[in-house]
Amino acid sequence: MPLTRGMEADVCIVGAGIAGLSTGYLLARQGQSVVILDAGLPGGGETAHTTAHLSNAIDARYFEMARIHGSEGARLIAESHTAAIARIEEAVRTENISCDFERVNGYLFAPPPSPLREEDKEILDRELIAAHEAGLGTVDKLDEAPIPDFDTGPCLLFPQQAQIHPLKYLAGLRAAFLRNGGKLYGHTHVKSVTGGDEGCVRTADGKTVRAGHFVVATNTPINDVVAIHAKQTPYRTYVIGAEVPRGSVKHALFWDTLDPYHYVRIQEGPTGDLLLVGGEDHKTGQADDAAIRFARLERWARERFPMILGVPYRWSGQTIETVDGIAFIGRNPMDKRNVYIATGDCGMGMTHGTIAGMLLTDMIMGRANRWEPIYDPARKLRGSMGELAKQNLNVAARYSDYVTAGDVADEADIPVNSGAVVREGFRKVAVYRDTGGICHHFSAVCPHLKCLVHWNTLEKTWDCPCHGSRFSATGEVLNGPAISNLECLDQPAEKQPNISTR
Ligand code: FES
Repeated sequence: MPLTRGMEADVCIVGAGIAGLSTGYLLARQGQSVVILDAGLPGGGETAHTTAHLSNAIDARYFEMARIHGSEGARLIAESHTAAIARIEEAVRTENISCDFERVNGYLFAPPPSPLREEDKEILDRELIAAHEAGLGTVDKLDEAPIPDFDTGPCLLFPQQAQIHPLKYLAGLRAAFLRNGGKLYGHTHVKSVTGGDEGCVRTADGKTVRAGHFVVATNTPINDVVAIHAKQTPYRTYVIGAEVPRGSVKHALFWDTLDPYHYVRIQEGPTGDLLLVGGEDHKTGQADDAAIRFARLERWARERFPMILGVPYRWSGQTIETVDGIAFIGRNPMDKRNVYIATGDCGMGMTHGTIAGMLLTDMIMGRANRWEPIYDPARKLRGSMGELAKQNLNVAARYSDYVTAGDVADEADIPVNSGAVVREGFRKVAVYRDTGGICHHFSAVCPHLKCLVHWNTLEKTWDCPCHGSRFSATGEVLNGPAISNLECLDQPAEKQPNISTR
């Protein structure tokens, strides 16, 4: 239900994914009046696309965390992700959430073929030492991971990880939030978030929510133009769901050390088990070859899991990688008074989102939390300046799209239910031909910082290669940081049925 009137609350949260709902739930339990607004359906954003590995095995590796954040920082990172898994387990228990929560082991292995490459062997050994130094004393090195018919070679065992069905968990968290007096409004587009004593959230149709604190938990912040987006990069990641006989693959989390890496786990289905295999990541808007990536993922999976019976599910999701390997959670650098952000999931969205809930609740309630400096969005990027420069060069290079040719020479070449960027003189036009053959024309200029969008064939969206804004085929904004639609270039009378034979 959308917001239909102005409101007041102690806290207003924008975004009803794992970070927004976790924060709202914990604050509501503390007696705070909380309003959550979401542009779509609650839990319908990126949290719905995760495979929900709940892990304290950091994707960017503990030896890197120690180099970048120091040994105490690495210890706090391990502590916070471990606490997040426990926090989810506690919510499942106390709120009686039926969401397939299960404690499992995690196994990190170096990619075959064996013999193990020296650098991979070194990764495992270095990570073992670094994990122990970060306080994860139960991490162990084994001869191989427990996958039948697949010799992984040596691996690291991370005990006491967990897995969950993300949508069932979010539904339970939402119900608990509402039971605790929270208010939640979907289909409500937020246009601005202003902090301060007179601060408010303003929606696209002019409604306001006044509050003492504001949390922006929209995957990538919609209230920040540059500061945060220059420090993180959006990626698309791909997942297949393969049917396997029940019990044929151990319930566990598996990851390899490739870049991009593969991630694997089992989800119980009604008639058998589903093997979820993810990987093949690329920067958002910088590739449009999903079919090839799914095929590679399936080949990789079938070679290692020959018990696969079929692959009925395929999907992709967006992940936001920060330059120093952990999320940005805390006061918004652009408005530190009473505006907070949670972004940069780094492929660990369920634990980072839950950490956001715990940390932001403490900050809003005025309690000290030792994780605050490590996740501070304004933290110094010591040890990651090279990565920052590389990322910003990549973004700068995207502006060269202004001088290249279009994807097709003529819009007549665009198949039905597909899109392409077409050059028209000095400008580029994003053209979508709908299922009825009618072409819809939009400026290809992303309203965030004016990079040019690209067509995503799998999702049928326009994706921005700079900071990950995404738009529907008909131009409506789906993902920030953009907060407005692509500019429509059609007058109603101009939409001509230009039927393609394809
Ligand atoms: Fe920043 Fe498009 S998302 S320019």
